[in-house]
Amino acid sequence: MNPVLENIKTRRSVRSYKDLPVPKELIEKVIEAGNYAPTGNNTQAWRFVVVSDAEMRGKLYDTAYANWKRFFENIRKNNPVHFESVKHYGEMKDPVYYEAPCVVFVIGARAVDCALVTENMMLAAHSLGLGSCYLYFGAQVLDNSEIVEALELREDEKIFGPIILGYADDFPDAPPKKPPVVKWI
Ligand SMILES: Cc1cc2nc3c(=O)[nH]c(=O)nc-3n(C[C@H](O)[C@H](O)[C@H](O)COP(=O)(O)O)c2cc1C
Repeated sequence: MNPVLENIKTRRSVRSYKDLPVPKELIEKVIEAGNYAPTGNNTQAWRFVVVSDAEMRGKLYDTAYANWKRFFENIRKNNPVHFESVKHYGEMKDPVYYEAPCVVFVIGARAVDCALVTENMMLAAHSLGLGSCYLYFGAQVLDNSEIVEALELREDEKIFGPIILGYADDFPDAPPKKPPVVKWI
């Protein structure tokens, strides 16, 4: 198969990682791929914050996990049908960052641009033998001023991702993918 198409089709959101650091050169390659994303007027108005430091990862976890837990308990209480399909996350040690050794925040103002960056990063990671996942819950850290300060987040900026990176311990099967809805004119 065409290697680009194969990479797109075989990339998965990885939620289980080996306890192995990701070499800096690979992180740089992933970021470079993100940085090559298209942007309106080629503004490239984004930046990256890479967190591998154990202490900072601990702070991220404590903050995001507390927010995740509230969300999870809300589903348990108010949406028991949906809860059945997500309850296994409650048994995980880290249902937010999945103990990934590297967390990369994409920070910018324009959602479309930054979304393109994150997809480039995940495809690049996959091509380099790394697992990755886009984490909405991993961005729920803004109630911790120490983290906001560490990210140097300005008022006009938002977090996209973060994207976690690491060596997959368990590479999942593809979830069901719907056929595209297309109207040909
Ligand atoms: C905007 C966005 C937010 C996501 N947030 C999370 C998240 O917080 N936790 C998680 O485990 N996966 C998250 N994902 C990953 C999706 O669950 C995943 O892409 C989807 O289930 C399809 O699986 P695949 O990526 O393996 O094709 C997110 C994906 C996107 C695009």
